[in-house]
Amino acid sequence: MDGVTEELPWCARWAALAFFVFSLSMAALGVVLLLLRRWPWCSCHVCRSYLTGSWKKEFPNLGDWYADLLRRSPTGTVTIHVLGCTVTANPANVEYMLKTRFDNFPKGKPFAEILGDLLGGGIFNVDGDAWRHQRKMASLELGSVAVRSYAYKIVAGEVTSRLMPVLADAADAGKVLDLQDVFRRFAFDTICKISFGLDPGCLDKEMPVSELADAFDAASRLSAMRGAAASPLMWRMKRFLNVGSERELRKAVNVIDGLAAAMIRERRKLGVANSHDLLSRFMAAGDGDGDAAADDKFLRDIVVSFLLAGRDTVSTALTTLFMVLSKNPGVAAAMRAEAAGAGENGGGVTSYEKLKRMQYTHAVLYENMRLFPPVQFDSKFCAAADVLPDGTYVAGGERVMYHPYAMGRMPRIWGDDFAAFTPERWLAGDGGAFVPESLYKYPVFQAGLRVCLGKELAVTEMKAVAVAVVTAFDVEVVGGDNGVSGCAPRFAQGLTASISGGLPVKIKRI
Ligand code: HEM
Repeated sequence: MDGVTEELPWCARWAALAFFVFSLSMAALGVVLLLLRRWPWCSCHVCRSYLTGSWKKEFPNLGDWYADLLRRSPTGTVTIHVLGCTVTANPANVEYMLKTRFDNFPKGKPFAEILGDLLGGGIFNVDGDAWRHQRKMASLELGSVAVRSYAYKIVAGEVTSRLMPVLADAADAGKVLDLQDVFRRFAFDTICKISFGLDPGCLDKEMPVSELADAFDAASRLSAMRGAAASPLMWRMKRFLNVGSERELRKAVNVIDGLAAAMIRERRKLGVANSHDLLSRFMAAGDGDGDAAADDKFLRDIVVSFLLAGRDTVSTALTTLFMVLSKNPGVAAAMRAEAAGAGENGGGVTSYEKLKRMQYTHAVLYENMRLFPPVQFDSKFCAAADVLPDGTYVAGGERVMYHPYAMGRMPRIWGDDFAAFTPERWLAGDGGAFVPESLYKYPVFQAGLRVCLGKELAVTEMKAVAVAVVTAFDVEVVGGDNGVSGCAPRFAQGLTASISGGLPVKIKRI
């Protein structure tokens, strides 16, 4: 017995060691197999260029590289195998995805996971009934005359009381101003007031730091980084371990959650009965299930979605507009002439009716967003294997991206002068009236069943700013860095485009 008891610990130790080594090898093999299965290997020149980043030698932005690939593709479609992603600039494909086979091209679970921490179950991040329900509520509110006139009053007030004084001060002091920063502050104050009836005061003369705006920037950038990764394994691992960019994202989302909760509390305290802001309208409509925590989460997701919808989109479009006007003084002069014809000569906010009649200015806004769409690309997931109208096969579960930035640069859509800034291309109606292009050729506001719900509001807001600023000031972009002077800015990573490094300008009174 003693001899046996002497031997057993050795056996046990050997057995334990063997078991440990075996388990470790199995775990390592498992990781290798998982990587081999999940990591899409491909050595074609497009994938190599994507993975090594060698496209950067020739192109300032990923979108410019895609545009080049898509121009050369006979179908206007390419596949980036390492991303499992088909990229298209073909209007027939866009119509097929956004209208004809809408149900087969949802946003999908992978997208919902990438943006889930920031957007939760907000309208941008859901499909099916959850989306239909929010879409119905949001379109009723955004379409109502009361909300539209409330929104216009807010825009007019922000332009007169904040934007114009900031620009006038910069003109009088002769100082260089980051116009992108000014428009972001303007758009943030405006969308907060329209959406929640609360004023963050970002464009006050002292230009205060906004915790919410900063957290929003960080969360948008870090979420976009997830989407650009060749494999989700890395960010999922980082999220699990709460390290690096994922730790940063968690912190930013916590700040957003805290401030959104405070906004919702504040709105409840102020009462919603006679308020026209969107949050009050959603609160008044109620969700009906009586679960306060679920209601607050629903409202939080709405708050975040509207911030995302209305802030960087409008500010980017306004920033690129003045960048382009600084290169095209003849266009700015024609806008002034149109405003003068409507009786607007100097830096005021014109009436809604007069704005509507300004066809040339309308065309300028559309032409600017053709070349610089605020949302440069949009992804959908193909639920069941499908064949796009141009013959491209897409496997079930793969991603399909349509690319408004590349589409604005396709000669087969816009002609050989696609690179020229020509507002006149939109003025083909009677007496030079603005004629919209098919949204499937120009999906800047998306198209089909999920077309942007804030389009009219956004265009009116941008038009009001454009007319007020252009009739009072000359805006000159300074510095040749960043390719800005050549109208080929570098864009920063984010869910909506923004110019990396901002847009430094000098303002002169006219
Ligand atoms: C220049 C300004 C704007 C542009 C270029 C723009 C563009 C877009 C795009 C591309 C989408 C589709 C996004 C996606 O599904 O991935 C979208 C959706 C949406 N937009 Fe806008 N947008 C702008 C301004 C606004 C504003 C100011 C609001 C609201 C006040 C707004 C409200 C919405 C909403 C609610 C949706 C979701 C529609 C749905 O999923 O059914 N947008 N917008």
